[in-house]
Amino acid sequence: MANHISIRHKLTNFNKRIEVSADKSISIRAVLLASQAVGISKISNLLESEDVLNSLKTIKKLGIHYTKQGNIYKIHGFGLNGFNIKKNLVLNAGNSGTLARIILGLLVKSKTQVKLIGDKSLSKRDFYRVIKPLKLFGVNITSKNNNLPIKIIGTDFLRPIKYNENIGSAQVKTCIIFSALNTPGITQINSKSSRNHTELMLKSLGYPIKIIKKSGYEKILIQGLHQFNCFEYEIPGDISSASFFIVLTLLSKNSKMIIEKVNTNRSRIGLITILNKMGAKIDLKNKKKYNGEEISDIHVRSIKNLKSINCPQRLNSSAIDEFLIIFLVAAKAKGISKFRDLGEMNKKESKRLDLAVKFLKLIGVKVDRFENDINIHGNPDLVLSKSYEMKNFLKDHRIFFLCCITALTLGGKWKINDKDSINTSFPEFLKILEEIGAKIN
Ligand code: S3P
Repeated sequence: MANHISIRHKLTNFNKRIEVSADKSISIRAVLLASQAVGISKISNLLESEDVLNSLKTIKKLGIHYTKQGNIYKIHGFGLNGFNIKKNLVLNAGNSGTLARIILGLLVKSKTQVKLIGDKSLSKRDFYRVIKPLKLFGVNITSKNNNLPIKIIGTDFLRPIKYNENIGSAQVKTCIIFSALNTPGITQINSKSSRNHTELMLKSLGYPIKIIKKSGYEKILIQGLHQFNCFEYEIPGDISSASFFIVLTLLSKNSKMIIEKVNTNRSRIGLITILNKMGAKIDLKNKKKYNGEEISDIHVRSIKNLKSINCPQRLNSSAIDEFLIIFLVAAKAKGISKFRDLGEMNKKESKRLDLAVKFLKLIGVKVDRFENDINIHGNPDLVLSKSYEMKNFLKDHRIFFLCCITALTLGGKWKINDKDSINTSFPEFLKILEEIGAKIN
């Protein structure tokens, strides 16, 4: 079956209320934490994307039973380190950097060797960032060139560590927090600010974790070896998935949208801050607190006069998965937008900074690239009329979404490859587009 789509018509004049798929980061964390809780946790509205399904398969291979009834996954945990690890176990994280990096933190006491593998894209990604702290805990971990496959054997002699996490990576932070759960004493992380779902979930479970906010980073103290009870969690919508619909509305003529029940945790809404600085009028309404997270309805409408931005670097981490779509807005804004220090984008499912430059050039946008910085020369009159096809993007779901939103807002005749990539994070993406009125073949 063909794995590409074509889009030949722009979208205009819509006024819709939608919900996007559930948050991927929170879904993966909820599954893994439920595997460590005592008793049967109930998770509703879990994202059923490949990254999360791989998380469920992973805990099953580690001896944790789960069932699904209606919209609820029931996960039967046996407490901390309650895995039953068979000999020669191989875990496959598929495309998920989050699953691969954070599951390692739950294997720090494994008595037998576990091998971790992933798909082609994941096998190119850096694991030194987690291998380094895991070795400091005393874990035996080996890999060639710090890539997958990785072999890990835990130890009974874990020691708490004090670690400076300077990348601003929530995956590294979570891997260390998960390792700390099984380690006696207090582990300390001085972490450059990044999404804080793990900390909020543990806090809401009554786990002894302390967070001291400093400027630009947090000091996190985790007391090891405390059991926590099973829990119930309803996963909110994913801001990273919502971001494509926010930009679709912003750049479409005479349109409005409300995206309901999205997680608008401050550590995730860099996109909204950046777009509002560029002249958008995106509002968060109906705000509610849920297990420490903030959930809101996002109100967005079309805007004609977008202006360029000199993007503050402090927003990089809170928009790290959204820069691709932010760059599209910069391409339509008046003036030169500047983005700095985005090397982390090249460490994602594909080399996204390199591909962003390739993509912007493909649609005729002038870009200056200086290592990890880019300047985008915006043009409010930018419209596309030729035929376009983006090739060799390693089936990266977010590049696929970017191409669709570009076709629907700027025009042109698009052939967009690797449709299946949507299953990584947002299986409902094309269905929702069609409900709004997009013509997709
Ligand atoms: C994620 C953290 C981010 C993000 C990824 C999901 C998470 O990665 O890009 O899509 O759930 O912790 P880094 O922690 O590597 O920045």
